[in-house]
Amino acid sequence: MPEGTTIGEGSTGQPIMELADRCLIPVYRRQRVALARGQGCRVWDTEGRAYLDFIAGIGVLAVGHCHPRVVHALTRQAGQLWHTSNLFYTEPQARLAEWLVRRSPFDRAFFCNSGAEAVEAAIKLARRWARERGESGRFEIVTAERSFHGRTLGALSATGQRKYQEPFEPLVPGFRTVPFNDAAALAGAVGPSTAAILLEPVQGEGGVYPADPAFLRAAREIADRAGALLILDEVQTGLGRTGRLFAFEHFGIVPDAVALAKALGGGTPIGALLAREPAASVLQAGQHASTFGGNPLVAATALATLQVIEEEGLVGRADAMGRYLSGKLQSMSSRTGHVRQIRGLGLMVGVETDVPAAAVVEAALRRGLLVNAVGPTTVRMLPPLVVGPAEIDEAVDILGAAILEAAGEKG
Ligand SMILES: Cc1ncc(COP(=O)(O)O)c(C=O)c1O
Repeated sequence: MPEGTTIGEGSTGQPIMELADRCLIPVYRRQRVALARGQGCRVWDTEGRAYLDFIAGIGVLAVGHCHPRVVHALTRQAGQLWHTSNLFYTEPQARLAEWLVRRSPFDRAFFCNSGAEAVEAAIKLARRWARERGESGRFEIVTAERSFHGRTLGALSATGQRKYQEPFEPLVPGFRTVPFNDAAALAGAVGPSTAAILLEPVQGEGGVYPADPAFLRAAREIADRAGALLILDEVQTGLGRTGRLFAFEHFGIVPDAVALAKALGGGTPIGALLAREPAASVLQAGQHASTFGGNPLVAATALATLQVIEEEGLVGRADAMGRYLSGKLQSMSSRTGHVRQIRGLGLMVGVETDVPAAAVVEAALRRGLLVNAVGPTTVRMLPPLVVGPAEIDEAVDILGAAILEAAGEKG
């Protein structure tokens, strides 16, 4: 065991970061900040410095940090029953599934622990669905270039970015990619061996690129014509982020299944696959499972999170605040220059500049704003859905100053 660092009450960030750097497998490129506490749209580091959190745990904290109703649900459940395995029924899991199917076109839910696992479940569902119909040669999944579906091998194989895949080849067979928003290429790639088309309604990790409505509508038609499923990866876009409960509502289509995670648990690890019949019933007992999936602790927390999203009108708020944020960014961009494009939907926004995004992110951090880079020149903003106009004003002012600083001009 590494020795020499004691982290106790009142420790500052430095020993925490040294310990982490020494003991953790170094897969993350982290900012040199140790966070200690959060409330609403703000977090504080170990030295007590406050930051406006426009990353929200990468789109996870829809209801903000430590929402009292979610804290209450979590602590109440923690004193009652944490975990049972899925060998038994529990009320929080059943009620969570009911909440989701009642407010969506989907008939059934499967719970897992992350976005990647929700995608894995979707891949298995697609393969089972084809085999159920006696089509064992139909196993291919068609996805989009620049997509991101997760780090497990199946989800990684579905991901349309070589940089994530290349170090881990060989990939799982049965995936092919087409350019995003290219309906003709999609039509050309889908055929009798296609089990499913898998798409993000807004590509998040790829740089915040919304789908063209015509492309998603074409995807629905192409899937139907070929006898394949249309599955949407709404891990990042789902549950209010884009100003609709599900992003597909913007596009006038209904997929056969969606993968969810991020916002679902309010910060506790949970993912879900929701599916419509007949596909929803093809995975049978023993064919898929997760020890932790939807355990009472996370399910109770997730249910409370969804109730807050609904009762506080956060989906409509995301829509309104998304418009407000875009307007503010537009005027900031005409003041400061250096902004090439503002992309997104609702409170999922990418700001593409002509300066390195990493420099903008660092300058913003020093000025008390958390944002992150998705691509060499694109900064992403994913504030909690409880964000208000004053916080947006503050964030956009800081971002403008950070862009100028990164450009070497007076910020
Ligand atoms: C669209 C999408 N799918 C899947 C994932 C993977 O989720 P996780 O990191 O929870 O496995 C992500 C993560 O950013 C994502 O944005």
